[in-house]
Amino acid sequence: MPKLTEITLKTLTGKAIAPYLLELAALRIEVFRDWPYIYDGNPTYEEKYLQTYVDAELAAVVVAFAGDEVVGAATCLPLTAEPAHVQQPFVANARDPGDYFYFGESVLRKAYRGQGIGVGFFEAREAQARRFDIYKTATFCAVQRPTEHPLRPAGFVPLDTFWGKRGYAKQPHLQCKMSWTDRGETEQTEKTLTFWTKNL
Ligand SMILES: CC(C)(COP(=O)(O)OP(=O)(O)OC[C@H]1O[C@@H](n2cnc3c(N)ncnc32)[C@H](O)[C@@H]1OP(=O)(O)O)[C@@H](O)C(=O)NCCC(=O)NCCS
Repeated sequence: MPKLTEITLKTLTGKAIAPYLLELAALRIEVFRDWPYIYDGNPTYEEKYLQTYVDAELAAVVVAFAGDEVVGAATCLPLTAEPAHVQQPFVANARDPGDYFYFGESVLRKAYRGQGIGVGFFEAREAQARRFDIYKTATFCAVQRPTEHPLRPAGFVPLDTFWGKRGYAKQPHLQCKMSWTDRGETEQTEKTLTFWTKNL
C-alpha cells in the first residue's frame, strides 16, 4: 500500500481545477460504482457537474496526488451555489443557506484508504470554508439505502462513525432528493439523502 508521505493534498480553485476534470470524472465514476452509491456514471454528466467547481466563487477541489496521478478528491462550495433542491430543506427549516459551506463528495481509490487522507479532505475543506469568515456551518449529505438492498455488501461499515469523529452530526429533518442511474438499471431513480452538519 502506498505510504501517506507519498500522497500530496492540494486545494485547487477556479481555473486550476480545469486540467483535472477528466481524471476527476473518471475517479468519481470508479468510486461511486460501489455501495452505497452504486452509480452507473456518465462521463458527459460528470464533466458538466465538475465544471461547477471551476465556475463557482469560493469553490475548491482538494486533490490527492500520488506523484502526478490523481488518486482522490474532495469538493466544496457555498451551499448557495448548489441547485434549489439542495438548498430547499434548509429554507424549509428556516435556515439561511448563506450560512452553510457545502461539501459535495470525497472519493479515494481503495488502495489509498485508511491512512488519514479522508481526514485530510475534511480539514482542507473546513479550512477553505473558514477562509471567508461568513460560513457558520459545514454540511454534506449522504444517501439513505435500505439495509436489505440486494447490492449491499455483507459486512459493509457505514461512514457514520468516521463522520461523527470529524465532529459532524446527522440531521434527519434535513433531507433532499437526487436522481441517478443505479448499476444494473436503465432509468434514473430518485434517492433520499440526509444532511450532516458541523459548526465551524
Ligand atoms: C470517505 C473516504 C474518502 C475516506 O478515506 P480514508 O482516507 O480511507 O479515510 P481516513 O484514512 O482519513 O480515515 C479512516 C480511518 O482511518 C484512520 N486513520 C487516520 N490516519 C491513519 C493512519 N495513518 N493509518 C491508519 N488509519 C488512519 C482515521 O482516524 C479513521 O478512523 P476513525 O474513523 O476511527 O477516526 C473513502 O472511504 C472513500 O473514498 N469512500 C468511498 C466514497 C464515499 O463513500 N465517500 C463519502 C461520501 S461522498
